[in-house]
Amino acid sequence: MEYRHLGRSGLMVSEISYGNWITHGSQVEEDAAVECVRAALDEGITTFDTADVYAGTRAEEVLGRALKGVRRESLEIFTKVYWPTGEGKNDRGLSRKHITESINGSLRRLQTDYVDLYQAHRFDVETPLEETLRAFDDLVRQGKVLYVGVSEWSADQIARALKIADEMGFDRLVSNQPQYSMLWRVIESEVVPLCEKEGLGQIVWSPIAQGVLTGKYLPGQPPPAGSRATDSTGSGFINRLMRDDVLRRVQDLKPIAADLGLSMAQLAVAWVLQNPNVSSAIVGATKPEQVRDNVKATGVKLDAEVLKKIDDVLEPVVERDPAKTVSPSSRP
Ligand SMILES: NC(=O)c1ccc[n+]([C@@H]2O[C@H](COP(=O)([O-])OP(=O)(O)OC[C@H]3O[C@@H](n4cnc5c(N)ncnc54)[C@H](OP(=O)(O)O)[C@@H]3O)[C@@H](O)[C@H]2O)c1
Repeated sequence: MEYRHLGRSGLMVSEISYGNWITHGSQVEEDAAVECVRAALDEGITTFDTADVYAGTRAEEVLGRALKGVRRESLEIFTKVYWPTGEGKNDRGLSRKHITESINGSLRRLQTDYVDLYQAHRFDVETPLEETLRAFDDLVRQGKVLYVGVSEWSADQIARALKIADEMGFDRLVSNQPQYSMLWRVIESEVVPLCEKEGLGQIVWSPIAQGVLTGKYLPGQPPPAGSRATDSTGSGFINRLMRDDVLRRVQDLKPIAADLGLSMAQLAVAWVLQNPNVSSAIVGATKPEQVRDNVKATGVKLDAEVLKKIDDVLEPVVERDPAKTVSPSSRP
C-alpha cells in the first residue's frame, strides 16, 4: 500500500481507504463486516471512513467493534456530521449544538477518544458558516478531532470557509470528500483547482461507481444476486447509474483493463488515483475478496494513451457539470 498526505497537512493516509456506507449495520452481517476490515488492515489500509448517519448510527458501532484492539496510532479514523441522527429538530445540520452532541455519540460508538478527521457531510444553509467553523475549531482544541474537512461542498462554499477561518484564526479545512469516478467528474473544473491552490486533498467516494465500474451489471439483465443493486437501501442509490447506455459503455472498458492485466475494479480505483489532488480513494466492500482485489490498484500508473482510450469509450456518459455538487436547499 502507498500512502499520501491528506492535502497539505502533515497527516498521512493510505491512498486506498475503506468505507462502510450501506454495508456495515445494514447490507452485510457483522461477521462479513469484520472480515472486510481485517482484510483491509492486512492489505495495509490504515484509513477508515464512516459517518454518524450510516445505518442509523449502527455503522460506527460495527466499525468500532471491528477495529477494537488495533493500535490507535496506526489508524486514521474519519467520520462526519450533518444528516439526521434522530427525530429531534436539533438532531441534524451543522449547528454548534448538533456538532457538539454528534461528535460525542460518534466517539462513544467508535470506542475512541478522538477522530483523525471530522467532516461536514454537506453544507448547512441554515447555520452561519462562522458558527460551524468555530464549533469545529473548539473540537480541535478539545482534542476530540485532529483535522477538519467537508464533503460535497462547492468551490464557492469551500472558499468562503477558508476566508472565515483565515480571518478568525480557526483551524483550516484540510480535505473535501466528493463523489469521483471515471463516470462522475464534476469536481475537476472548479473544486480541484481551488483545493490544489489552497492545500485541500480530495478523499473520493464511490470510485467504482458503487460496483458499476466492475462491469458485473450487464445491460438488459437483472443484477447479480446479493449485489448492491438488489439491496433494499443500496438499490435506491445505485439505480441512477444502472442505465443501459452506461452499462454498455462500461463493458467496452473490459479490453482496456485486460490489456493492462488489471481487474475492472482496479482500473476504476487506479483511475481516480492518477489525479494528484486525490489523497485517498474510499472503497466499499461486502466481501474480503473485493478488498483484496481493489487494493491492488495502489501504485498503478496509467499512461496518457490509456486515459485517452477510457475517455473515448465513456465520453457520452461522463458527468462533468460542476453545478451537480449540491447540498440540500433546506435542512433534511
Ligand atoms: N461523503 C459522502 O456523501 C459519501 C457518499 C457515499 C459514500 N461515501 C464513502 O465512500 C465509501 C465508498 O462508497 P461506495 O461503497 O459507494 O464505493 P465503491 O467502492 O464505488 O462501491 C463499493 C461497492 O461495490 C461493490 N464492489 C466493490 N469492490 C468490488 C469488486 N472488486 N468486485 C465486485 N464488486 C465490488 C460492493 O458492493 P456489492 O458487493 O453489494 O455489489 C461494494 O460495497 C463509503 O463507504 C463511504 O465511506 C461518502
